[in-house]
Amino acid sequence: MKLWGGRFQKETDEKVNDFNSSIRFDSRMYRQDITGSIAHASMLGRQGIIPQEDSDLIVKTLQEILTDIEAGSIEFDIDAEDIHMNVEKILSERIGDAGKRLHTGRSRNDQVALDLRMYVMDELKTILGMVKDAQQTILCIAKDNLDTIMPGYTHLQKAQPITLAHHVMAYFEMFKRDAMRLSDCLKRTSVMPLGSGALAATTYPLDRDFVAQQLGFDMVSLNSLDGVSDRDFAIEAASALSILMMHLSRFCEELILWNSNEFSFVEMDDAYSTGSSIMPQKKNPDVAELIRGKTGRVYGGLMTLLTMMKGIPLAYNKDMQEDKEAIFDCIDTVKLCLPVFTGMLATLKFNKDVMYRGSGKGFTNATDAADYLVKKGLPFRSAHEVLGKLVFYCIQHDKALDALTLEEFHQFSDIFEADVYDAIRLETCVNMRNITGGPAKEAVERAIAAGEAFLKTIEKG
Ligand code: ARG
Repeated sequence: MKLWGGRFQKETDEKVNDFNSSIRFDSRMYRQDITGSIAHASMLGRQGIIPQEDSDLIVKTLQEILTDIEAGSIEFDIDAEDIHMNVEKILSERIGDAGKRLHTGRSRNDQVALDLRMYVMDELKTILGMVKDAQQTILCIAKDNLDTIMPGYTHLQKAQPITLAHHVMAYFEMFKRDAMRLSDCLKRTSVMPLGSGALAATTYPLDRDFVAQQLGFDMVSLNSLDGVSDRDFAIEAASALSILMMHLSRFCEELILWNSNEFSFVEMDDAYSTGSSIMPQKKNPDVAELIRGKTGRVYGGLMTLLTMMKGIPLAYNKDMQEDKEAIFDCIDTVKLCLPVFTGMLATLKFNKDVMYRGSGKGFTNATDAADYLVKKGLPFRSAHEVLGKLVFYCIQHDKALDALTLEEFHQFSDIFEADVYDAIRLETCVNMRNITGGPAKEAVERAIAAGEAFLKTIEKG
């Protein structure tokens, strides 16, 4: 018979049993469920709501059940619907009436809210550690490439020279915001809902603060209806994870481009590439493509959660059982992607010569040539026009700006002097951009120092 079978005259239809049951996917929360129940049972004993010896027996037996689950010696029962009722059923089978006292003053509605919050907190901490690993790898690449000049792009057209260090540090900043978002989401997840009951709290004198403190929550929820039906934390987590995946996907897209024969800026390590079953010469960036591809399913999880929540009245509704597969898939996918991404990044070989040569083409120093004229007194708009004409001349004569003779420069403006050549060297273009946020070596060194200071604030989960 079902744990709730008292008022029923008929067995549940088998199809409904399968349909309704969530044990297939919520069994992964067994540790959170048991830890939460241990805290609840201890509190019930302390408060004299159940006999102390029952409380002690429940705690001891729950610990044994946890060990047995971890040893793989327990098979869950689909008839018991979910992890909460499975654990309670096993407990009651082992210790009878004492076990039947565990659910006093509690509902599965506040129980599942508790378990999911605990699960999400554990996983977000692990993910934060993985983001930190990725950031540390980026810092290593940046430190090694403060002088590695490469073209910077807008519209995927060569724009201005930068350094590889500066380019990868852009991703450091993105991951920094991701880490901040995850940490922030953790704060709002750390709200303890037990005591909300099914929806209207409880008449028992529960010590909610004790439970919160036992389980490491920052605070208790302040409205029982919201306590059982708030899934904002899961939506926020899925949203932060979606943005994180978007960043991974952008980086992967660049690596795929850079790894192409046309760019040849990087070569991916053999250990992080795959071959073709038909074309013997191929070495494909499958890892980067798969991360880019998996980004969509994390967005899908976020959309599932938002859509699931938008039309349900207070308080708990069964729709909310759908939260778990969505947020689990977001978490699993990110945990799958991040370590392989970091490994791929750490083993990249950068073709610095190709990057440098690429920076010399495409008139990436044209802005600096215009700025040169501005510094000698010409208004910027006029300097822009002079350079536009110069570039057109260069294209027609298949020359780079720095290959022009001073006479050629003078055909466009007599302000040019011999020092123009130094002013438009790629190294000058980069290192003159020394303001905060710029690509000059010193500016990037300052950004790296700030990055290192930030990473010290992140505890690894
Ligand atoms: N398995 C359910 C879920 O995931 C637990 C809560 C069920 N509560 C209920 N009254 N049916 O949401």
